[in-house]
Amino acid sequence: MVFDMTAFGKLTRAGIAAIGLGALAVPAIGALAMPTEEAGDQAPADAPLTADQMAESKALFSQFSCGACHALSEAGGTGHIGPEFDGNEGLDKGYIVNMVNNGQGAMPSFGGMIDEGQIEQLATYIMQVKK
Ligand code: HEC
Repeated sequence: MVFDMTAFGKLTRAGIAAIGLGALAVPAIGALAMPTEEAGDQAPADAPLTADQMAESKALFSQFSCGACHALSEAGGTGHIGPEFDGNEGLDKGYIVNMVNNGQGAMPSFGGMIDEGQIEQLATYIMQVKK
């Protein structure tokens, strides 16, 4: 029986090289995949609100007087003590959640007064209805 060690050796080296490439490729793919996964995690929270959720958020917006200080036409907000939400390019959901929870300057803090999930929903609502 003839066993060609040279060919076997070449195959093995090629095999090891392939494994090496594979190992390199895994972290590279992992790094690329990370932002996608994070965006994917946030996607469900930003899914369009149901009619009930819209109504609930609109009621909260009135109940906590957001509209007395902020303009948001869909919710009947006409105040000008704080920045307008209609036409406001600087807003994103996380920023709104943070402002509502912690306040800033003349902006009151609503943390502990509004349920955390409702604040998230209110922020999604503002992002969806602002003009
Ligand atoms: C008494 C008036 C008042 C009320 C009521 C009020 N805010 Fe504000 N809000 C402000 C002021 C003033 C600022 C600006 C604060 C600053 O920049 O220091 C602000 C800032 C904000 C911002 C950041 C806007 C930006 O463009 O930077 C958000 C978001 C916000 N408020 C959301 C809300 C929500 C939601 C409610 C209701 C739950 C609410 N506010 C109720 C006065 C108010």
